[in-house]
Amino acid sequence: METFGCQMNEYDSELVRSLLKTQGFGFTDQSDHADVILLNTCAIRENAHNRVYGHLGKLKYHKKERGVVIGVLGCMAQNLKKELLESQPFIDVLVGPDGYRQLPNLLTKAMETQTRGLSVDLSEYETYEQILPERVGGVNAWIAVMRGCDNFCTFCVVPYTRGRERSRDPKGILEEAQGLAKRGYRQITLLGQNVNSFQFEQYDFAKLVTAVADIPGIERVRFMSPHPKDFPPALLDVVAQHPHVASQIHLPLQSGNDRVLDAMGRNYSQADYRRLVDDIRRRGDIPLTTDIICGFCGESDAEYRDTYQLIEEMGYQAAYVFKYSERKNTIAAKKFPDDVPEAIKKERVAELIDLQKSISLQKNRELIGQTVNVLIEGDAKKSSQQWMGHTESNITVVWDKSLQASHPGEFLPVLIEDVSASTLFGRPVQSLPFP
Ligand code: SAH
Ligand code: SF4
Ligand code: F3S
Repeated sequence: METFGCQMNEYDSELVRSLLKTQGFGFTDQSDHADVILLNTCAIRENAHNRVYGHLGKLKYHKKERGVVIGVLGCMAQNLKKELLESQPFIDVLVGPDGYRQLPNLLTKAMETQTRGLSVDLSEYETYEQILPERVGGVNAWIAVMRGCDNFCTFCVVPYTRGRERSRDPKGILEEAQGLAKRGYRQITLLGQNVNSFQFEQYDFAKLVTAVADIPGIERVRFMSPHPKDFPPALLDVVAQHPHVASQIHLPLQSGNDRVLDAMGRNYSQADYRRLVDDIRRRGDIPLTTDIICGFCGESDAEYRDTYQLIEEMGYQAAYVFKYSERKNTIAAKKFPDDVPEAIKKERVAELIDLQKSISLQKNRELIGQTVNVLIEGDAKKSSQQWMGHTESNITVVWDKSLQASHPGEFLPVLIEDVSASTLFGRPVQSLPFP
């Protein structure tokens, strides 16, 4: 199984593994040995589609040579449905994010009787309660606490691929989190397309975050991805004050211009967003990150400049900047022409990435000489001779393993000595020689 897209898709792949294993399926990393190849797909932007199509092209070979069963799961399966089955005749099984309980059955039928199978009905209730995702182990565990999205931002395909918002019963969530703490997980990230609109009867998100953070053994709680419209004071207080909730907020801005925000259907103005940031910063030094879309329908140069200025002013720790990509069937695709030329979209994206890079570098430089508390997660990407972990505010930190015997899951104070725009480099302070 290969997974594309966001963390929710990664989580769903863990669910699918667990569902299939209980039905007697096993897993291999080598596609040459597999009887079934599954792709869990993403539909958020055109390049996500293209990556999946590229991959499907490669799978044709396995189909031809060995007759493997090919299954396409996730958001692209949901969004394109029959169109995908028709255009890609070698796909055997197509299952959307709410249909995974059907998957074992559909795969068995495809293997035994070469029947093509489809499960793309969205559900108002499916939360995969009682199915424990098969986690690969480690330090951080993800828990999906709600699924779907009712916001219908006009550019976004997610409300169509993942359906209506529904929250899980907090009882099940807390039991799962307690089990994870017992198995040694130190960090939990609560997941949802619109995570802070979690609401189960009278039980709201601030309460849920607090309850998870209160579990003995859970040292850090994070959440992804919140929407600026759902930040009541109680939630801001928890983030600012609870010792086991990471003091950091991802606050997707999308645009700094009111006309564009309105056309995007974001339900806040530039002033509302600033007010929220003021409310956050009044509570302390809480680093923010954001998402930005460049070149949305009709975005003029002056409107784009508003975004540029707001980014300059906000001082984000990091910003994820995307080129607007029209998605079929969304409100924007129906209502507005995708009229900003590709070259201008690219120029704006590049300029904002540069701007944010200089801001991130500046912020990271301020950390040189400071000691940060890092949760060790595993090997650094570039070298197995180095450890990698994150600060409370979710900045990557890297240091040489030889400096101190440590293991993943441990918290370590690290003195920062050097930085780039995305990474801090340092050494554990316990290893400081006595003066
Ligand atoms: N529910 C989350 C995440 C949505 S997808 C949220 O609202 O923050 C992550 C990001 O992808 C979005 O914040 C947005 O910046 C970007 N995105 C979504 N649809 C897009 C599109 N059609 N074109 C370009 N970027 C898009
Ligand atoms: Fe998409 Fe908006 Fe929902 Fe986020 S909140 S998933 S951007 S519709
Ligand atoms: Fe992609 Fe679906 Fe996630 S569209 S970003 S996999 S919710």
